[in-house]
Amino acid sequence: MKPIHSVLITGANAGLGREAARQLAQQKGINKIYLACRNRTKAEAAKAALESETGRQIFEIVRMDVTDVASIRAAVAELSAPIDAVILNAGGAGGRQPNSLTDDGVTTIFATNVLGHVVLVDELLNRQLVTSTILYAGSEAARGIPKMGMQRPDLTEGSVDEFMSIADGSKFGAEGDPMQTYGYAKLTATLWMGAMARQHPHVRFVTMSPGGTAGTAGFDDLPLIKRIFFKHVGGVLMPLFGMMHSVEIGAKRYLDGLLNPEFKTGHFYASQTGYPTGPVVDQAGIDEILSDITTQNNANQALRRFA
Ligand SMILES: NC(=O)c1ccc[n+]([C@@H]2O[C@H](COP(=O)([O-])OP(=O)(O)OC[C@H]3O[C@@H](n4cnc5c(N)ncnc54)[C@H](OP(=O)(O)O)[C@@H]3O)[C@@H](O)[C@H]2O)c1
Repeated sequence: MKPIHSVLITGANAGLGREAARQLAQQKGINKIYLACRNRTKAEAAKAALESETGRQIFEIVRMDVTDVASIRAAVAELSAPIDAVILNAGGAGGRQPNSLTDDGVTTIFATNVLGHVVLVDELLNRQLVTSTILYAGSEAARGIPKMGMQRPDLTEGSVDEFMSIADGSKFGAEGDPMQTYGYAKLTATLWMGAMARQHPHVRFVTMSPGGTAGTAGFDDLPLIKRIFFKHVGGVLMPLFGMMHSVEIGAKRYLDGLLNPEFKTGHFYASQTGYPTGPVVDQAGIDEILSDITTQNNANQALRRFA
């Protein structure tokens, strides 16, 4: 595995992305961290806080909205040197209008969690600007967390057309439940990572779920009842029952996936069956669809129709 000295993190101004930036800055050998954020004011506040917390001046802001392809391309064009690693972390419930379509014809929740990162990785690879590892923030939702009311995404045939219907939201309809779409979006991206690992063997593609993490803003844009359940009730009760852990533990999983070569390219690591926290295991042993080459290729091909 090639050494990692510089890391770009999308969605680095808050939650797990910001905490990963903080922990990385304390790692020996890391000398540059790019904070890829959509909001300059929030990015500057995060940069100032990170500099003060870590005592290091190694953070650089990159303006990037992952739902806006032009902004991703412009951000990559401005990079002056190759980056060793990327954490594809921006994501979540897709804001106030998760089912609205972007200019690329995908739902906002899909663009935020998947398509923007596909465009980013393609740009970096095409310009030979990434040297070592790409880590995608997966989720246990991609194989279901029944204890949290999230069923396993149920692919009918795993065809290119089905993945396109996940991307443009037609599989779920205009009133689709963002929490359901979220699991399918994370599954699609995880399969895409598997296909990319086979196509680009010189780069590691590791999908790592941070696990159920309390105290982030991830559920802030959900409809009221769901927000109360997941954030306020769940956010307090779930840690007590071991169903959520701290942001420090969640972000540490990113660092493990990035820096520990035992996490293999093309694989998806997350909590054990049925759990959103605890030890991390290879998910291929939990759900065989995750390592099915045809399904991975179909997900990748569907994404190419939009990216
Ligand atoms: N928390 C969990 O329990 C959990 C579990 C499994 C997986 N994950 C995954 O972990 C990742 C981070 O989640 P989190 O809980 O830390 O969420 P969070 O606190 O809401 O942080 C999300 C970050 O992504 C940024 N972001 C959102 N949309 C963006 C866009 N269009 N362009 C650029 N940046 C954007 C946000 O920026 P703004 O501040 O500008 O909104 C914020 O910096 C997500 O991919 C999530 O799906 C989380």
